[in-house]
Amino acid sequence: MLLFISLVLFFVKINSENVEYSKTSIQPIHVRIQHIDVDTHSDIVIDIQTPHFSWELADEYDDYGQRIRNIEQIGYHIAVSAVIDNEIIWDSGYVRSSISTHILYEGKQLKSDTRYKVNIKYETNKHESEWYSVDFRTGLFSLDDWSGEWIGSQSMNMNQLRTVINLKSNPIRSATAFISGIGYYQLYIEGELIDQSRRLDVGWTTYQQRTLYTSYDLTNVLNTSGLKGIGVMLGQGWYNKQQWAIGQGPHVELSLNYGPPRVILQINIIYTDGTNESIVTNTNWLGREGEHRFDSIYMGTTVDFRAVQLCWSCANFSDFRLWMNASILPSPVNFTAGGQFSLQIMDPIRIGPDALHIATSGQLGNIDGVEGASLTDGGILKPISQEYVNGQLFDLGQNFAGWCRIASLNAAKSTIIQLRYGELRYSRSVNEMNYHGLFYENLCSIAVMDTVILNGTENEIFEPPFTYHGFRYMLINGYDHINRSDVECYNAHSQTRLIGNFTSSNQVINQIQHNILWSQLSNSMSIPTDCAQRNERRGWMGDAGLSVDASLFNFDYINFYINFLTMIEDNQTPDGAISDTVPFTVGSRPADPNWGTAYITIAWYLYEHTGDINIIKNYYQGIQLWIDCLIQHYEQTGLARFYHTYGDWNPVNRTGNQSLISSYPFLRDVYRFVNMSELLNRTDNIEKYGQLYQRLADEFHRVFYNESIRSYVDGSQPMNILALDLPDVVPTPLRTTIVQSLADNLIKTGYFTGGIISVNALFPLLSNEGHHDLALQLAQKTSYPSYGYMFNNNVQNATTNWEGWDTLPQGGASSPNHHMFNSIGAWFYRYLAGIHLNALQTIIIHPKMSYDYQLLTEINAEVVTTKGSVKVHWKRISQNQIDLSVRIPNNINAIVSFDRLVEQGKCMKLICNNEIIWIREKLNLLKNTLGISHLTEHQSTGTMSIRIESGDYTFTAYWQ
Ligand SMILES: *[C@@H]1O[C@H](CO)[C@@H](O)[C@H](O)[C@H]1NC(C)=O
Ligand SMILES: *[C@@H]1O[C@H](CO)[C@@H](O)[C@H](O)[C@H]1NC(C)=O
Ligand SMILES: *[C@@H]1O[C@H](CO)[C@@H](O)[C@H](O)[C@H]1NC(C)=O
Ligand SMILES: *[C@@H]1O[C@H](CO)[C@@H](O)[C@H](O)[C@H]1NC(C)=O
Repeated sequence: MLLFISLVLFFVKINSENVEYSKTSIQPIHVRIQHIDVDTHSDIVIDIQTPHFSWELADEYDDYGQRIRNIEQIGYHIAVSAVIDNEIIWDSGYVRSSISTHILYEGKQLKSDTRYKVNIKYETNKHESEWYSVDFRTGLFSLDDWSGEWIGSQSMNMNQLRTVINLKSNPIRSATAFISGIGYYQLYIEGELIDQSRRLDVGWTTYQQRTLYTSYDLTNVLNTSGLKGIGVMLGQGWYNKQQWAIGQGPHVELSLNYGPPRVILQINIIYTDGTNESIVTNTNWLGREGEHRFDSIYMGTTVDFRAVQLCWSCANFSDFRLWMNASILPSPVNFTAGGQFSLQIMDPIRIGPDALHIATSGQLGNIDGVEGASLTDGGILKPISQEYVNGQLFDLGQNFAGWCRIASLNAAKSTIIQLRYGELRYSRSVNEMNYHGLFYENLCSIAVMDTVILNGTENEIFEPPFTYHGFRYMLINGYDHINRSDVECYNAHSQTRLIGNFTSSNQVINQIQHNILWSQLSNSMSIPTDCAQRNERRGWMGDAGLSVDASLFNFDYINFYINFLTMIEDNQTPDGAISDTVPFTVGSRPADPNWGTAYITIAWYLYEHTGDINIIKNYYQGIQLWIDCLIQHYEQTGLARFYHTYGDWNPVNRTGNQSLISSYPFLRDVYRFVNMSELLNRTDNIEKYGQLYQRLADEFHRVFYNESIRSYVDGSQPMNILALDLPDVVPTPLRTTIVQSLADNLIKTGYFTGGIISVNALFPLLSNEGHHDLALQLAQKTSYPSYGYMFNNNVQNATTNWEGWDTLPQGGASSPNHHMFNSIGAWFYRYLAGIHLNALQTIIIHPKMSYDYQLLTEINAEVVTTKGSVKVHWKRISQNQIDLSVRIPNNINAIVSFDRLVEQGKCMKLICNNEIIWIREKLNLLKNTLGISHLTEHQSTGTMSIRIESGDYTFTAYWQ
């Protein structure tokens, strides 16, 4: 209370210097502690001493209800206090500053397992905000804070463990659980699953290097005195070596057997009288093999309902015939080797509405004409059809990752029912006898099947624990009396918020966007996996680096990727080498340069989307080590023979020089590292790596340019694309020729011939180099090979992006649910909507325009950033006219650029909110309009740009 009064007084004093404004009540909104948003997290836990705070400035309105433009923050005040005694541990005082994001805590040292309150207020050039306050708490900072043991059993499949606690009659002030269970755990108290939507927790890591724990606030669960039963269910998860080795052969370094599942739990209870106690895992806990007899991420689960023991985690449970004392097992972490036991800062995997929060401002539902399920329908899929093909076959209408819950099972005790899964069905040409049956071949070496044995009570319900499948079709064998309405399926993925929304006037582009969203979610399972159905689901770095930009436009996955970066760093050897997959299960180390580039690419885009420089700082050293490792390889070979493994993966035609393909990310990484060094003011590295880049750029041209055909290497598309995409490689006088040669090749061939690496560069390149029409034509193609072919092939229409241009159920292992081709999604936001977030410094809004205006007539896009929602809506009214509405969040400004609508054309007139603000030759100066300034016309491209301050604007531009 004292704190509050003093802060209020402080502000009254500040404000008295300022003009009185109307009494609009504003508050910091969408506050974040670290990158955790308080809107969708009721319990915020952090594990570092210097958290940072961010907030959005609320919109302010004038007397007519119009949103006020040019709202800027001029100062803020942050105070942090301990909840228990209100002691102020940090008071920033009033800070005159426009900064409203990632402000570092500078107070007293934070304590382990302690609850804090942060109070934030700000002042804008118009108003002063109210205080906003929110609680957060800390994890266990030191290993010494843990007093429990890891428990489990070496001698039996002990996957249900329990104990009983006796709570004192004093009311509790707080009860906090810290738990890690590997492979996976679920926590129960008195028979109730704590946190109902959480599944497959904790996240997969290289356990000896880093094992994650999580924390629950149990204050409201343990709020009555007396006996309470605590139970933990364990699953094998990725802690079982079968998952690492199956069908692939164990990687040499990883042929280790981790051993059985294990759990460590500690519940810290503080009573209101100040006394406290801890309940910890030890050998007094009892365990048994529960009704889930077998569980495997790949192979599925076997559950025997005859073995259910009702309320086994309740205090009054008494049938201990099959239970035995748990044993102490070693910690999975190798602390001698520098391993860490750390808080899982990313959100857990969830199912249902809690898995995906909608942060965009629109409504639920799918766009007309787009096939597949709507993302915004709560993560629950119901079958769209049921038929009899070798059993009861259900079509969920959407390829996804997760599982199903089957209700109303009524059959005799010991009835065995099996569930199988497939993404595709056989076509007649491939399998005449089993035409329309499920296609299993792309599951490769695993038999994906969930088995349940009924106990014969009525209306049994089955939901397989500790596994997930990639599928669209589910087949039930052994039980035909099933109603469609008794099947519901869950789309499981790392929890996130939908922060992007992109729709266009073109159906093909809309379907690609749909497929991008579902491929991304299907492959966001605590790490970015490659696919969800076969014996893989590994953290392939190549895929992760290629889709991260598109992913960050659509989803708030900041902590998810930070977790991945940390694991990349964990895996780095002292000589800087990183691996193709993280955790390192298959592939090689050092990674193929196009795979290793994920390290720098992910760090770069995280900064680009959030403006959080701490991310670059935190991984800078590791990134430099990786680049130095590449340099060592380079010094042995030169670019001409630079090492490579996968090339431009999954191309239409494998062409060109493989060393050019792997030199490309090497150069780009060096270039980005120079950019990072600039951000951190590392003059030593700017110079060193800047000079290196220039040498490499010269060498690239020298060794790969082919004068006889005036193209790179063999003149195939990927060769020219990759060369053109690197700054300063193609000499300026040659640039137009090479671009033209690429465009000619694309037109003559009729399609793009490359794979995942060059397609990422293709679309932005064409749009930047004056071939935006061609880019749009390629993006809208539906014949083979193209994105559109994936859902226009007369065999099976894709609802997720494919692994290859020709993934069809013709045999083979190819997956129809990959995200490595998702890179085109970043081009949708950056070039079609024209949104360049630019680290939230000055946003650029520059939608590219086609000369054939029918190619694309309308775009609606929104991106919810840390500073607020950016919106772009444009519509081509005619060849010569465009309407463009933009929303720029408060405390940020933007450059809005109008692209030429007609070849060689000139902008003639600009209108803003029905007022002419500029006419060529007549009103040559920009009309003085609130929020708009600095008109420039680019001499060669004709692009007209204006600078705008925060606010809502509707423009019309006329061209001739
Ligand atoms: C832990 O790491 C050290 C150092 O790398 C190694 O010698 C030791 O064998 C490891 N311990 C286990 C249990 O793997
Ligand atoms: C996405 O944008 C479309 C078109 O503006 C709109 O109809 C829809 O409600 C939006 N959806 C979400 C979830 O924001
Ligand atoms: C029988 O199985 C169901 C699940 O289908 C379970 O909910 C129930 O508790 C079991 N009943 C007994 C008596 O084991
Ligand atoms: C690509 O390869 C196919 C055969 O696999 C061939 O028919 C086609 O002409 C090739 N295209 C190009 C552009 O080389």
